[in-house]
Amino acid sequence: MRTQVAIIGAGPAGLVLGQLLSNAGIESVIVENRSRDYVEARLRAGVLEQGTVELLRDMGVGQRLDREGLRHDGIYLQWPGTRHHLDFPDLCGRSVWIYGQTEVVKDLVAARLDSGQPLYFEVVDTAVHDLDTDRPSVTFLDSDGTAQRLDADLIAGCDGFHGVSRPAIPASARHTWERDYPYGWLGILAEAPPSTDELIYAWHPNGFAMHSMRSPSISRLYLQVGLDEELDDWSDDRIWAELSTRLGHEGWELTTGPILDKGITPMRSFVSEPMRYGGLFLAGDASHIVPPTGAKGLNLAVADAKLLADAISASYGRRGHDLLDAYAQTALRRVWRCTHFSWWMTSMLHIEGDDPFARQLQLAQLRYLSTSRAAAQSLAENYTGLPYGW
Ligand code: APR
Ligand code: PHB
Repeated sequence: MRTQVAIIGAGPAGLVLGQLLSNAGIESVIVENRSRDYVEARLRAGVLEQGTVELLRDMGVGQRLDREGLRHDGIYLQWPGTRHHLDFPDLCGRSVWIYGQTEVVKDLVAARLDSGQPLYFEVVDTAVHDLDTDRPSVTFLDSDGTAQRLDADLIAGCDGFHGVSRPAIPASARHTWERDYPYGWLGILAEAPPSTDELIYAWHPNGFAMHSMRSPSISRLYLQVGLDEELDDWSDDRIWAELSTRLGHEGWELTTGPILDKGITPMRSFVSEPMRYGGLFLAGDASHIVPPTGAKGLNLAVADAKLLADAISASYGRRGHDLLDAYAQTALRRVWRCTHFSWWMTSMLHIEGDDPFARQLQLAQLRYLSTSRAAAQSLAENYTGLPYGW
């Protein structure tokens, strides 16, 4: 097969890229190693920045998001005795939307299939070749077991943290920066109406807790847990009791309900450079991971895809290759900003060890955010999302 852009991975990065290219009249082929059912059911992030929402609308995939997404005009920051609301429109003129990544992926897969451009699910043995030539290629076995070879002008590696794209860049040309946090998040999805109108991020001596949601009848909640803790140690009753303690606030009660899903995820910050190697361009989790505290992972993947789509479109037009040559640098500036914001939110809200000095610093920072407009504005502009070309 021959195409203009070979895209590896049908997560948010690959699907947004494919759709933007298709809208610009550029052909692509997407290859994905999981099944359609699997990628449409995978439980992931849930907060969309305003820029992500506007982009999805402009792309023509915003109808269900506009019907079912919940606009949130702020978040609550909480510590014992205080639940402080940050008003985003007042602070920075923007909002965020609650709409699961799972739903975004379903909408994008439907749009892809409508566009008639190829999307191969359940491929195996994906490999990239000839990255340092102007005819890179991708080989794979399709779901029938037939060997395929895809020649392209360029390859977009949108295959997430465990994909094949990043490792295809020679180790001598790669540099990585990493931070593993000594805790994880135990997350539950519950059939319980949210007990809050907006997300609550709570600092508590027992550990961080958070109240999010997916719809007016489904809550998503998280607890900081130690890396040595197992799901089996956490009965449903224990989870609800600990959530009630950590999220507790005078005059407020947590509504409980049947737990539909639970899991423990480790937290990590990771950035790999370069984001471009010859004919291979990385986007999303293939190149960077942020801890979930700032709700940046999905939005950053979409932002990379937007920058890459604009750069590819320009390269086929009169503007030439300048944007494509600048892609890695432009994307990385934003990646590092979001890496800092996610690390900062994480460090401010999680309990690490038994260090009374560190705890006082965290509380001082939280009080500062609740009393200084300048400090609150900084959080709001990062949380609701920086412009793509930042
Ligand atoms: N061949 C084909 N597809 C692959 C391969 C491979 N060898 N390896 C991985 N994939 C697929 C995965 O199955 C997945 O569907 O690539 C896709 C990558 O998607 P995501 O992991 O969702 O990554 P991305 O699109 O960058 O979106 C980042 O996802 O992990 C969350 O928190 C993260 O919200 C962020 C978002
Ligand atoms: C979620 O709803 O899954 C969610 C929300 C906000 C975060 C992280 C996760 O910061």
